[in-house]
Amino acid sequence: MPSGPHHPTEAARLVVLVSGSGTNLQALLDAAAAPSFGAAIVAVGADRDGIEGLARAERAGIPVFVERVGDHATRDEWDEALAGKIAAYKPDLLVSAGFMKILGHRVLGSFPVVNTHPALLPSFPGAHAVRDALAYGVRVTGCTVHLVDAGVDTGPVIAQEAVAVRDGDDEDTLHERIKTVERRLLVEIVGRMAREGWTVSGRRVRLGRA
Ligand code: GRF
Repeated sequence: MPSGPHHPTEAARLVVLVSGSGTNLQALLDAAAAPSFGAAIVAVGADRDGIEGLARAERAGIPVFVERVGDHATRDEWDEALAGKIAAYKPDLLVSAGFMKILGHRVLGSFPVVNTHPALLPSFPGAHAVRDALAYGVRVTGCTVHLVDAGVDTGPVIAQEAVAVRDGDDEDTLHERIKTVERRLLVEIVGRMAREGWTVSGRRVRLGRA
């Protein structure tokens, strides 16, 4: 597992991957506008066209790219093509912010990747974390920022925050409350990773130099 960037004089380069509304991306765009954040978003990629996440990047003047799984004969070919598009921007860190595809070995082997997930992992991995947490009846759920490995939401945890489930919650109300926390946590952690670097020992991630 790679250890992270530490650029005392220049901003770390971030590529952000999105599949939807991109409110986490927007939080990163807003934070990165301040030089003191220590990271710049150099490109935004997606697995589909016509999403608000890409429109947010375009409004911010950030280059975008799209790589659709369906345009490739195999998942491996897609992985290879996506890795090539990302590599062109020479990122120090890849941020999966609501990117709804499992990344392949080519992408994962080329860049450190951080993801935000709307549950307290290892509970409720997968694409329906909020629905699954509600269906289970937990009283506390939350969000997790973690490094990405080859599994589904199984990589080492960097940070987590809890969100209480309310009696009247449905999937939308609970997800919106989680996302409010998620955006703040993702910005905080990505900024610290860029500014301070990180080390991984087993499953334990430590921000800052060893
Ligand atoms: C977030 O809750 C993320 O964890 C999940 O999808 C949501 C993306 O929201 N995988 P947005 O596109 O950043 O608004």
